[in-house]
Amino acid sequence: MEQKTVLIGVTGCIAAYKTCEIVRGLQKAGVRCKVVMTEHATQFVGPLTFRSLTHEPVAVGLFDNPSDPIHHISLAQEADLFLIAPCTANVLAKVANGIADDLLTTTALSTTAPLVIAPAMNVHMYENPATIYNMGKLEARGVRIIEAGSGYLACGDVGRGRLADVSDIVSVVLAELGIRRNLEGRQVMVTAGPTVEPIDPVRYLSNHSSGKMGYALARAAAVRGARVTLVSGPVSLPKPEGVRVVQVRTACEMLAAAEEAFAVADLGVFAAAVADMRPKQVAAHKLKKGESDSALSCIELVRNPDILATCAASKGRRVIVGFAAETDDVVAYAKGKLASKGADLIVANEVGEGKVFGADSNQAWLIDAHGAEQLPLMSKDRLADVILDRAVSLLP
Ligand code: C5P
Repeated sequence: MEQKTVLIGVTGCIAAYKTCEIVRGLQKAGVRCKVVMTEHATQFVGPLTFRSLTHEPVAVGLFDNPSDPIHHISLAQEADLFLIAPCTANVLAKVANGIADDLLTTTALSTTAPLVIAPAMNVHMYENPATIYNMGKLEARGVRIIEAGSGYLACGDVGRGRLADVSDIVSVVLAELGIRRNLEGRQVMVTAGPTVEPIDPVRYLSNHSSGKMGYALARAAAVRGARVTLVSGPVSLPKPEGVRVVQVRTACEMLAAAEEAFAVADLGVFAAAVADMRPKQVAAHKLKKGESDSALSCIELVRNPDILATCAASKGRRVIVGFAAETDDVVAYAKGKLASKGADLIVANEVGEGKVFGADSNQAWLIDAHGAEQLPLMSKDRLADVILDRAVSLLP
């Protein structure tokens, strides 16, 4: 596919620094990025930052480029897509109403490329009827709005208004550009997160898995064009854009959901940290201290089903990627797991204090029938891509 160009408009918002990551994400997918900024945006991130990242001139003023007196037109014409991220309430209002009083808004008015807007602002501005009205107006014109997320905002308020996840913004842009990479037409099933195994209605057994690796894999597979089902234990991560998520709690629920999704999949990635055991009895009422001390101090456990091994038993030509988290002898254990579980690829890593669980980066080994490859420390997003590259090479 010929290289696509995305023009990225940056407006005056604290989230402007996240646009650097958006540029990186798009570049990783082979997209050429050019940046146009409002004057206010330059207060948050210098044009030199974007110039260095994109290796392209960064435009700010309408009359900055003496060799190109109609700069907004040439910028508008060379873009395959115009993304405004972050987009303030002010710029959103201007674009919605066709106001063109600086280079960014003039370019937005003159482009015929698809427009994608990722707003970011204070919760009260986001929920103001004027902003809601403007977003509706833009959507009615075919502009794709990537909803802001909820959480702590830079101003101290809590609520909706935070710029959507960088990876979700990148996914939407790639999808809009029709960038379908090497998993187009494939179905992928990913398990992620921990399982929780109830003892009584308030207590459970679980583990520290954050789900970040599984979610990164699901997102990366979706970016490559796969139809992805993510079978997820309880985690506090946003749903990846374009991914079907099946929420489960226990290993038994995860097995049922995974078997159903794997039945129609080409690739199964088992990144969940499934509890090995579950309480044999689940008390219907809270076990009270004192009167239930004997029940609480001695909980009988039974083995949970091995989800990966169960799916692998009837895998046929489907490809299975498993994980091995070990505290010692990582590669030796992982090699054993490759054979005993029936996986095609094992991603192994060392776990322990501050390692892997909850972290954003991971140092892993890839183990398949041909041997073990030690990978450098990298972000979980990057590792997801490396794992998928290998998995794709194993697909029939
Ligand atoms: O045996 P172990 O738990 O180390 O194996 C880890 C791999 O097996 C991971 O890919 C994990 O998602 C998967 N697994 C599973 N069901 C279990 C236990 C592990 O799918 N009950």
